[in-house]
Amino acid sequence: MSVLIVGGAGYIGSHAVDWFCENNYEVVVVDNLSTGHKDAINKKAKFYEGDLRDKSFMRRVFDNEVIDGVIHFAAFSIVPESMKKPLDYYDNNVYGMNVLLEIMNEYSVKNIVFSSTAATYGEPKQIPIKETDPQVPTNPYGETKLAMEKMMHWADTAYGIKFVALRYFNVGGAKPDGSIGEDHNPETHLTPIVLDVAHGTRNELTIFGNDYDTTDGTNVRDYVHVMDLAEAHRLAFEYLKAGNDSNAFNLGSSTGFSNLQIVEAARKVTGKEIPTKIGPRRPGDPSTLIADSTKARTVLNWKPKYDNVEKIIQDAWTWETKNPSGYGDK
Ligand code: UFG
Repeated sequence: MSVLIVGGAGYIGSHAVDWFCENNYEVVVVDNLSTGHKDAINKKAKFYEGDLRDKSFMRRVFDNEVIDGVIHFAAFSIVPESMKKPLDYYDNNVYGMNVLLEIMNEYSVKNIVFSSTAATYGEPKQIPIKETDPQVPTNPYGETKLAMEKMMHWADTAYGIKFVALRYFNVGGAKPDGSIGEDHNPETHLTPIVLDVAHGTRNELTIFGNDYDTTDGTNVRDYVHVMDLAEAHRLAFEYLKAGNDSNAFNLGSSTGFSNLQIVEAARKVTGKEIPTKIGPRRPGDPSTLIADSTKARTVLNWKPKYDNVEKIIQDAWTWETKNPSGYGDK
């Protein structure tokens, strides 16, 4: 019996593949390599290159393998890009989920763990954010992820496919040995950009807005280490295998860091100056996102091991210094 990890060549997916392999699961990966990297996939996993939306390809995978459950990472995930190309997000994310649930139903695979996001909440009404808070996204990325959560809900009602939606906050870090890490092209996320500046591959960081209603005027985010996320997926998979009901969990540290505080922490870790300038606000950015992740800690028994923003930056820095051009394939 194998766990199928769709999108297992991406940043978070590849860390989950690695973690499942290290914990002796049989792992099958599907990825179209549109944004992922073949070299990021642990060699113990069996890899099928192809697109989730291609039903005949997906049927081939399900025909060849005995799939116990699915972990779904294959989605576009960049907030500003989604503002410019909303329909691409509906096609890849929403239609991709449609096909996946259809094929799972055809093959009677009844468990799915899904990468959802804090972006489904939009501008929060209260901080920290609880799973029961209103989900009103402020960008197409969040809208598509919310639609995907709802599709799973109705697929559960109709076909009995159980799901766990893991709503991540801001993910950072890398496998501590620096063998896999974050490599997006183009890079839009704060921590890798800050470290590119520290490394000298970029001249400076532009901070998008300093007139938000926060302590220093810059956006506040809640950072979670990618290895802790990987373990949360394993726990969620086991939770479903134990016959539990569908559920949603926030994954964060419950502590907020402003963009300026992240730059300060990166200066401390790297010992580099990291020049910054202030630019205009980026469309679609909520002011503050901080998770209440008590539920994941109590129900899934999730115990983050790297719950510390300097550790997150340190591990990302190890990856960055060992692999200044990332995987070097794009
Ligand atoms: N930022 C800058 N300059 C940059 C890049 C980012 O100031 O060059 C700022 C952004 O404006 C934001 C913060 O850094 O205030 C974090 O931005 P990221 O792009 O790193 O991350 P987001 O918060 O936009 O989004 C991430 C994930 C989403 C997820 C969200 C949840 O990409 O998938 O976190 O908080 F939904």
